[in-house]
Amino acid sequence: MYYPDELVEEVRAKSDIVDVISGYVRIQKKGSSYFGLCPFHNEKSPSFSVSPGKQMYYCFGCGAGGNVFTFVMNYENFTFPEAIKLLAERAGVNLPEIEYSEEIKQKENKRAKLLEINKEAAKYFYYQLRCDKGAAGYRYLSKRELSDETIKKFGLGFANKTSDDLTRYLKKKGYSDELLKEAGLASFEERFGMHDKFWNRVMFPIQDINHRVIGFGGRVMGDGTPKYLNSPETPVFDKSRNLYGLNFARTARKNNMILCEGYMDVIAMHQAGFDQATASLGTAFTPGQANLLRRYTEEVLLAYDSDGAGVKAALRAIAILKESGLTGKVIDLTPYKDPDEFIKNLGKEAFQERIDHAENSFFFEIRILERDFQMDDPESKTKFHREIAKRLCGFTEEVERENYIGAIAEKYHIGFENLRKLVVSYAAKTGLAKPVERPKSGIQKKNTPEDNAKKVQRLFITWITDEPSLYQKVEKYISAQDFTEDLYREVADKLFCSLREGGYNPAAIISSFEGEEEQREAAALFNTKLEAIETKQDREKAFHDILYAVKKNSYDYYSKRMGTDVEALNKVIEGKKALEELSKTHISID
Ligand code: CTP
Ligand code: MN
Repeated sequence: MYYPDELVEEVRAKSDIVDVISGYVRIQKKGSSYFGLCPFHNEKSPSFSVSPGKQMYYCFGCGAGGNVFTFVMNYENFTFPEAIKLLAERAGVNLPEIEYSEEIKQKENKRAKLLEINKEAAKYFYYQLRCDKGAAGYRYLSKRELSDETIKKFGLGFANKTSDDLTRYLKKKGYSDELLKEAGLASFEERFGMHDKFWNRVMFPIQDINHRVIGFGGRVMGDGTPKYLNSPETPVFDKSRNLYGLNFARTARKNNMILCEGYMDVIAMHQAGFDQATASLGTAFTPGQANLLRRYTEEVLLAYDSDGAGVKAALRAIAILKESGLTGKVIDLTPYKDPDEFIKNLGKEAFQERIDHAENSFFFEIRILERDFQMDDPESKTKFHREIAKRLCGFTEEVERENYIGAIAEKYHIGFENLRKLVVSYAAKTGLAKPVERPKSGIQKKNTPEDNAKKVQRLFITWITDEPSLYQKVEKYISAQDFTEDLYREVADKLFCSLREGGYNPAAIISSFEGEEEQREAAALFNTKLEAIETKQDREKAFHDILYAVKKNSYDYYSKRMGTDVEALNKVIEGKKALEELSKTHISID
């Protein structure tokens, strides 16, 4: 951690999680917790819970969870220092200049410096566009029908013809050659010395979701090459985890997002009122970007170029969207090449109509596929039908598959039963596609003995956090050593310690883990879903069973390790005794 533990804890304690999260997500009280729609995945019924008692949030749908810090980090895409700064300010806590570890200090410093120099450069370009030297750039943007308001909103700028003026400007401000090079704003060559990377181009600053400039794209004003020059990846510019325009699109509150290929397309769409438009950053669409979109929508409309390369890219994007559980649709832009040209020629009403009639992505895929076959040749046609059947096997849910079989049969004039048979025979040969496993899913379907062992450990920790007074009653049967997963053991150790010594505080335990993945897992431990059990008698039995199962798993675990681990023998003897005692003991829950 970067700040002293006590300070981190002070900020956390003064940032009530219900207050903070209410600022981002609409949540409603239900019993002792608050519930709302999860901001980290898309859903129609609320499975996102916020517990004022535990000062934690947890989503039963996607498994996202943590304390107030992790929430702000995940929601805002902040690092820990950024999150604590925001919360400290909100809570009126003064943060001192802190003692970073040397490595972290350097990393944070580097990021901060890169963001700072990018901002300076963006300001410089922005200013240049309005100077005499920038007239050509301004003319170019006007010719492309961008309004002043749009130019301002996107912070567009101009890199003039002088090959080293940005470099000189930034160096005068005190930035080093090293930093300029690392930010991708300048490079060094024997013959010219330090010189600007961007030269005689209109400049598109690329912003992250918090409007911070993380890189640039620069476009030539005519037919020169390359058409766009982009900043290289840097510690603040990860092209696979950012999207152009998302800083605006994320608050658009439309029921879809539009994904396109070009900066100009995003800008043209926003100018026409389609402010849910975003684009990837000169590279192919990635799963990381799909996950980003999944925070804000469940339907993504593709507005890719209508040429061959665009169609190919759209097919790849559709597969990625599907993988992350998003619905993809395709906007037909013909006879124009891209959204910018479409809107210029046919206007926004026509574009809205194309949005309303966006094509189901499966129909799109089949329509593109059809081009490879000759429908007047029975052999080719049969191959086409087989290929359709193969793809229909990708729908694992029966109702959905049947619906698609019906729709495709009608569309392509294939007998419904015939197509169905083809699908069945194809599935018999190769099996239906496995449902995609969501990386963040908290709901595990398969129940191996190992999963069960982990589950009871989680249930036990959750139960104790919900009813801390129970700890006293079971203390003599159970210790942190009985938790056989490293992370569980660590959490149990901290939890039991705080219960023994007073100061029970599960949300603080989460902060003690540095990695996001660990924090999430720790949060899951405190929020495993307990079945609602009606009677006191049944509850007591359930608790006893869970305790017994944890202990039994521990006993088995150490039994296997007796040969290699000297401590194991003691644990086995202790475990055996505890199990015998437990099987005769009743633990009452008040
Ligand atoms: N691109 C790039 N480098 C290139 C060409 C394209 O990085 N040499 C990226 C840019 O992000 C660009 C996107 O690919 O916005 C789409 O390219 P293209 O369709 O050629 O450009 P448009 O955005 O349509 O730009 P314009 O309308 O100005 O031609
Ligand atoms: Mn274009």
